[in-house]
Amino acid sequence: MKGLRERFGRPLRLALLGGGPSSWIGRMHQTAAELDGYWRVIGGVFSSDPARSRQAGTALGFDPGRSYGTLADLIAAEKSREDGVDAVAIMTPNDTHYPCAAAALDAGLDVLCDKPVTHDFAQACDLVARTRKQARLFAIAHGYSAYPMMRYARELVREGALGALRLVQVEYIQSGLATRIEDAPQNNRLRWILDPRRSGLALVMSAIGCHAQHLACFAAGRNVARVCADVRAMLPGRQVIDYVSALFELEGGARGTFTVTQAAAGGENDIRLRVYGDKGLLDWSHREPSYLKLALQGEPVRVIGRGDPFLSPAIIAAGRAPRGHPEGLREAFANIYVELAQERMARALGDVPPESPYPRIEDGAHTMAFIEACLASQRSGGWVDVARLPAS
Ligand SMILES: NC(=O)c1ccc[n+]([C@@H]2O[C@H](COP(=O)([O-])OP(=O)(O)OC[C@H]3O[C@@H](n4cnc5c(N)ncnc54)[C@H](O)[C@@H]3O)[C@@H](O)[C@H]2O)c1
Repeated sequence: MKGLRERFGRPLRLALLGGGPSSWIGRMHQTAAELDGYWRVIGGVFSSDPARSRQAGTALGFDPGRSYGTLADLIAAEKSREDGVDAVAIMTPNDTHYPCAAAALDAGLDVLCDKPVTHDFAQACDLVARTRKQARLFAIAHGYSAYPMMRYARELVREGALGALRLVQVEYIQSGLATRIEDAPQNNRLRWILDPRRSGLALVMSAIGCHAQHLACFAAGRNVARVCADVRAMLPGRQVIDYVSALFELEGGARGTFTVTQAAAGGENDIRLRVYGDKGLLDWSHREPSYLKLALQGEPVRVIGRGDPFLSPAIIAAGRAPRGHPEGLREAFANIYVELAQERMARALGDVPPESPYPRIEDGAHTMAFIEACLASQRSGGWVDVARLPAS
């Protein structure tokens, strides 16, 4: 039988929102989306300034006719085309994620949004409701949980290989705020990042904490129930939050520790996740994302690699090159795009959509609830329950 993509008959059409020439994450989305042939990026809106946006799209090599000045122009023009766009990928400054996503959903488009999905939990709940009302798909760009070995970690936990979960430890350490960038010459990027109204409730959580929390929950297969957090600015006089450490309790009772900072001089995108059960532990580091250490009590430690032949077809398919050939974040991002496309195509063809673990708007809403709970815990000095999505 022919594959989904072949039966659907064409690549899906994607527009970028954000991702102008100077944005590295823009090229990451663009190339990851197109990597496996499921999507074709047709154009987008690349700046908040309409003239600059049109110019940027053309400079990036897109059709000038589809290099739009605003999202409203894009929606209106694409609606009237026979080959109109199917989805948008949002990688604009954080404060624009919510209005862009809401407008795209209301226009009947699927959405892949970068993190943090919104400014707060209430906005995220609103996007959950809109996504469901419009029967649309909504993915979030948590690339780190889309590595094949993170997918395998989740599978091992789910199958009970570690036994009953006891502890999850996650850390994400960077150095981008290790010096007073507030005093450096400001560019557009720094201006929005250093403004809490634009970057979010807590800068370090918008930037990397959301990835760390998602990774922990993804591998454990559970949300956070309660949290007790230390939230602060490491550098004297700093107005934005650059450090959060927290103890947490997962639903079902396992404990957790969480440390994220961008003020660690010498740090370099260091992500580490350890999951401990009563039979053994999993250890994953972003320095070697294609490997996963599994240590079961009383047995030799195993290092499992992407592409190992005993892995399930779904895990194997999340990698593209044989073991020993490096793959990275681009391929992980591409996994999210592939799964989003497969679900969209399956729906259109009347197939039962494949079960795929890409992060969805409900996960984004949980992240926003987690961030709010950390801040509430800092204020109260104690444990705080993490809000749950209202029953739909
Ligand atoms: N998932 C990840 O691993 C990851 C990594 C880096 C950044 N991000 C996210 O990507 C987003 C952008 O971050 P960045 O570092 O690229 O920022 P940036 O400031 O470098 O780039 C933002 C881009 O958006 C454009 N833009 C601004 N306002 C716009 C609007 N209203 N409409 C259309 N385009 C607009 C700008 O011209 C620019 O090209 C943020 O939300 C950030 O959290 C995610």
